Amino acid sequence: MSKQSKIILAPLHGYTEAAFRNALAECFSGYDEAIAPFIALSPAERINPARLHDVVPANNIRLPIIPQILGNDSSLFISMAKALADLGYTQINWNMGCPKKSIAAKKRGSGLLPHPDFIDSILNEVVPNIPQQLSVKLRLGRNHPDEIYPIIEILNHYPLASVTVHPRIGIQLYDEKADVDRFATVMPLIKHPVIYNGDIFTTTDYQRIITKFPSLTGCMIGRGVLANPFLAEMLNGQTLPSSSEQQTRFIHFVNVLMDELKRESRSSHFLFSRMKDYWGFFSYLFAETETVYKEMVRITDETVFFARQTAVLNEGVWKDLTSTDIAFTGTKADKKELEG
Ligand SMILES: Cc1cc2nc3c(=O)[nH]c(=O)nc-3n(C[C@H](O)[C@H](O)[C@H](O)COP(=O)(O)O)c2cc1C
Repeated sequence: MSKQSKIILAPLHGYTEAAFRNALAECFSGYDEAIAPFIALSPAERINPARLHDVVPANNIRLPIIPQILGNDSSLFISMAKALADLGYTQINWNMGCPKKSIAAKKRGSGLLPHPDFIDSILNEVVPNIPQQLSVKLRLGRNHPDEIYPIIEILNHYPLASVTVHPRIGIQLYDEKADVDRFATVMPLIKHPVIYNGDIFTTTDYQRIITKFPSLTGCMIGRGVLANPFLAEMLNGQTLPSSSEQQTRFIHFVNVLMDELKRESRSSHFLFSRMKDYWGFFSYLFAETETVYKEMVRITDETVFFARQTAVLNEGVWKDLTSTDIAFTGTKADKKELEG
């Protein structure tokens, strides 16, 4: 199987920050780039450098990234774009898909989608006044999948680097499957390079998408990578090592990830809570997914947690990825960011 389109790590706030991206790129191959989790615009006279922490170039040398902006205020957008250009970013991405209620209620993320004229006015002000290219990532709509059609007409008027479509609507969150048939009606209308995003967990899922849509510029993958970091190697047709070597490589990855997280914050609670969240996905790599997941999330003591993690990593029954598909069913972890 040969590689047909770019494989892009999707942004998952709380998961795919620099620590994860660095560990992923150090331990696995096949990821071409990543969109970094959103930076929310906030009214302030000067941009607090802490807001740009995740995208500081010195900490992002292993995997090329595109920073993402969440917001709807053109002047704040332009200031943020300039700050990101000062860091060397030649492309930024606009989040028009976040389904979180509290965000959408403020006409941000997927809350923009019922308001095409508002989107047009923002693009009209932003695009000519930012020093880099803009790409967008959106859902089919907030309340209805037809919302995307007038938006595409607007997007087509602007010189965008790419349009990523996640074929669900905002109010669906992650329930129901990504609507590939609807994506098929949308893709030919977009004049920009198109990136597909949603529910790619296996080689079969990926093949289905790139066969059906051969002109895609890329596939963006989020939860599938968290549940199986070997995924890009598999999609690129690389032969995986033996089952026990897969497990050894994964253990190494977890160690690198923990070192990266420790560089991120000295707080042991930060490490504990992040690792707990990751196990919502990592548990899929073990035969007893549900048992491992439930057990790990219930542990409240850090020492007990890390001892149990070592035991699961070394003694847990690993799913041989060459013969078993990761059947992702959704965990509480992937819904965490979406409450409220
Ligand atoms: C916990 C979580 C956090 C997310 N954070 C972001 C984000 O910061 N920016 C964004 O555009 N999408 C975000 N998403 C959406 C993902 O990028 C992606 O569109 C979604 O997970 C569907 O792709 P997948 O099926 O490959 O996971 C988030 C999703 C989850 C579950």
